[in-house]
Amino acid sequence: GFSWKLADHPKLPKGKTIALIVLDGWGEANPDKYNCIHVAETPTMDSFKKGAPERWRLVRAHGTAVGLPTEDDMGNSEVGHNALGAGRIFSQGAKLVDSALASGKIYSGEGFKYIKESFDTGTLHLIGLLSDGGVHSRLDQLQLLLKGASENGAKRIRVHILTDGRDVLDGSSVGFVETLENDLSKLREKGIDAQIASGGGRMYVTMDRYENDWSVVKRGWDAQVLGEAPHKFRSAVEAVKKLREEHKVNDQYLPPFVIVDESGKAVGPIVDGDAVVTINFRADRMVMLAKALEYEDFDKFDRVRYPKIRYAGMLQYDGELKLPSQYLVSPPEIDRTSGEYLVHNGVRTFACSETVKFGHVTFFWNGNRSGYFSPEMEEYVEIPSDSGITFNVKPKMKALEIGEKARDMILSGKFHQVRVNLPNSDMVGHTGDIEATVVACKAADEAVKMIIDAIEQVGGIYVVTADHGNAEDMVKRNKKGEPLLKDGDIQILTSHTLQPVPIAIGGPGLAPGVRFRNDVPDGGLANVAATVINLHGFEAPSDYETTLIEVVDK
Ligand code: 3PG
Ligand code: CO
Repeated sequence: GFSWKLADHPKLPKGKTIALIVLDGWGEANPDKYNCIHVAETPTMDSFKKGAPERWRLVRAHGTAVGLPTEDDMGNSEVGHNALGAGRIFSQGAKLVDSALASGKIYSGEGFKYIKESFDTGTLHLIGLLSDGGVHSRLDQLQLLLKGASENGAKRIRVHILTDGRDVLDGSSVGFVETLENDLSKLREKGIDAQIASGGGRMYVTMDRYENDWSVVKRGWDAQVLGEAPHKFRSAVEAVKKLREEHKVNDQYLPPFVIVDESGKAVGPIVDGDAVVTINFRADRMVMLAKALEYEDFDKFDRVRYPKIRYAGMLQYDGELKLPSQYLVSPPEIDRTSGEYLVHNGVRTFACSETVKFGHVTFFWNGNRSGYFSPEMEEYVEIPSDSGITFNVKPKMKALEIGEKARDMILSGKFHQVRVNLPNSDMVGHTGDIEATVVACKAADEAVKMIIDAIEQVGGIYVVTADHGNAEDMVKRNKKGEPLLKDGDIQILTSHTLQPVPIAIGGPGLAPGVRFRNDVPDGGLANVAATVINLHGFEAPSDYETTLIEVVDK
């Protein structure tokens, strides 16, 4: 039968302290002035590279290597940390939703049947990120769902859009809204009463994560549910264009708006008897809204009105909380993660990041489950992030505090694994501010140094890697790799990339014969879990992706 017990590794000892460091958004790319990691002073990360190919290599962090539909899909933190923690490649939300839509199975599932009961008398509301970024949602999936829902009985549909500019180029929202408007007008020709009802920029409206700032979710609630917002427009295209011009804000930070009819009345508040679907497949930035929509008892902000609705997520976002209870597509079943194995094999783990990435090294790492596997064996610490700012203003973020915390935990001797996420290169990279991103990369490198110095002191091991690329390329390029110009200007790339990421191993506790194998050239993030389990002195579970290391006699 099944057992959690892992076999002893034939050559590697147990009990070493391992620092497992994930740099968020730190890929490897050609050195040029748009490569902020290259431009920044990063002596620690640079020094690792000198250990190639025995102790430094690249691993794949995008596309099919992390369970995404195609090789054109950039990596992201959800799929990256899922792969790092679970040691296997699961078909991820993006892909599962594609299949459910293609086969039509989405319409015969429990979730759809549930919301469908509201279609006769109520409105179907779709809320989510409007872009083709493929990280949290995809426009083509929304288009298919609109078509399918209307063919399956929805007569009145309202879409509540969140503009992107973070996983896609800033300014691209106008085009996405136009495409959506076009689809909705086709539905109207067929007699479906379909309209955009409200909107706002994803970072200012609705899509907060890890409870960093509930006011973000409240702004969305007011527009989506109550039909109230500081800005009112007759059309969403006009709303996005005007707000960008007049408020000098980018797509990520558009203020909330509602669409009103000729008498000035909001066209689509959410009321008793309606159905609501949150269309994002990715979990982190939907959990807070899902709680507001689903929980009868709720005290994070004053909802004013709590409509009796039928609510389903595109996916179930939290496997532990079973949130939401209804969903259109079943999430990947990410079971038997490395964290769960470790607690069963006597390995004590500490995990830490600041708020904006805290769930990455805990929730995502553990297969989208909140909480501990074993509170006796694990400790997770969240360092509060600055809220209400864009991180180019404070690009060092909490790197120093995370580094200090990790150092203290390593020196305490209480844990075998000290795992952190350093957010700087990603969070500042997403702002598109190149100078600030350079500062961010340096700060992350300094935190790495602080942690590996502690590892030196205790005779431990370090494993340093990243979840996907971002800061190593800040410009949109043509196929030849040259910066793509628009009206003579470069276009800033705020999004992640398709680049591979580095992984480095080392430290005084690393057995001298340990080196990267050369027979796993396509190795990706999912190979890291087996590698780390080996370094803890165990054989990895047999169905995990193979280890990246071997031990030769020295
Ligand atoms: C975000 O949610 O901030 C971006 O869409 C993706 O960034 P992450 O995958 O690094 O969290
Ligand atoms: Co990111």
